[in-house]
Amino acid sequence: MRLRARQGEALTGRFVVPGDKSQSHRALILGALATGETVIAGLLESEDVLATAAALRAFGARVERFGPGRWRVIGGPWRSPDASIDCGNSGTSVRLLMGAAAGQGVRATFTGDASLSKRPMRRVRGPLEAMGARFEGGDTLPLTVAGPVTRGIAHVNVPASAQVKSAVLLAGLGTDQPVEVSEPVPSRDHSEIMLAEFGVAVERSGGTVRLGSQRSLSGRLVSVAGDPSSAAFALGAAAIVPGSEVRVENMLLNPHRSGFVMALQRMGADLAMSNIRGQSGETIGDVRVRFGPLFGAEFTPEEIPSMVDEIPILAVVAAGARGETRIEGLDELRHKESDRLSLMAEGLAACGVAARSEGDALVIDGGPIRGGAEVRTEGDHRIAMSHLVLGLAAEQPVTVDEADMIATSFPTFREAMRGIGARIEEVAQ
Ligand code: S3P
Repeated sequence: MRLRARQGEALTGRFVVPGDKSQSHRALILGALATGETVIAGLLESEDVLATAAALRAFGARVERFGPGRWRVIGGPWRSPDASIDCGNSGTSVRLLMGAAAGQGVRATFTGDASLSKRPMRRVRGPLEAMGARFEGGDTLPLTVAGPVTRGIAHVNVPASAQVKSAVLLAGLGTDQPVEVSEPVPSRDHSEIMLAEFGVAVERSGGTVRLGSQRSLSGRLVSVAGDPSSAAFALGAAAIVPGSEVRVENMLLNPHRSGFVMALQRMGADLAMSNIRGQSGETIGDVRVRFGPLFGAEFTPEEIPSMVDEIPILAVVAAGARGETRIEGLDELRHKESDRLSLMAEGLAACGVAARSEGDALVIDGGPIRGGAEVRTEGDHRIAMSHLVLGLAAEQPVTVDEADMIATSFPTFREAMRGIGARIEEVAQ
């Protein structure tokens, strides 16, 4: 499906954002590892998360939906599935589940779609092998976890990857040996927070996290907050579409996920946070953005992990700002669902924005946005959503060549954007 976005009225009102993808995967996986019942409210029902739910059923857990976003998981001993586990487009599913499977000592073959089959798995396989796990296959999918974790590890997490850290911590549940992960630059810490909620303490000192010695989990209630990576499309759109004012309620405000909100503030956006509170161990709150003048800014490599999935929409915001924005340290973007560094430079340039990649930096000279192009997404959901937002602020409409993959993370994107007044339509092939 091709989608086209065009400039219209100002964007206003409450943006209905679905549950956080990272929290959703983890709630299902920890529920399947726990004894007793886990009830989840606000689960993101996207293709990626549903791939995790299906995988957990194959590993023997009872995973049931009993209402919109409301799920029940009954954990228990894991079994080796008969068929291979298809993780679709989802890097989080495959990397976290490999760690969990190695920890539970089950044998499982993991597969994925064309994009996931190109992404690096050595980064997970390496530390799990250092913990004694055995693998069959290479550095990409398909890959088989063939033998259990037998020892602990002191892993140094470079480049900062929450998926790798989480795989090591989940694998570590299968040993009583010391398991620690050190991070020179911190990655998102939802696994640590949620493990503690399920009864497994994770000590933190400096940049090191260490699994506590009590490693069995008990089922519990998890409330999933609004996904800041999905909210970023509306907040970013409000910042660059004249006259807009948009608010998002109950959004995850974990500092390791708040880089985009901080970036908007640094660029001069009129942004306010309110109603800040705790929920399921996380910090959440409401965020409001009003249109106003924005200015280019510089972002350093250390800032990237806190907004790693928001770089495409940050680049769009930079296109609507006055002056130059430099975003440094984007090598990891080449290993996401697509080479996001190249595709953003290409898509923005096609829409008349002065944008280029310089090594692993993205440099954008903002100003009026011409638009009027069809952009190549290579099936990457965030490339598609970012360019649609660009179209809302451009002089001429912007079309994305393939938008079905938006369902991997944000199946209700179009309705949610239309709800604040965005003009996004399907275009005949
Ligand atoms: C995620 C971690 C990030 C992010 C991904 C979700 C997670 O990947 O890009 O969308 O839930 O742990 P890396 O940890 O590999 O950077």
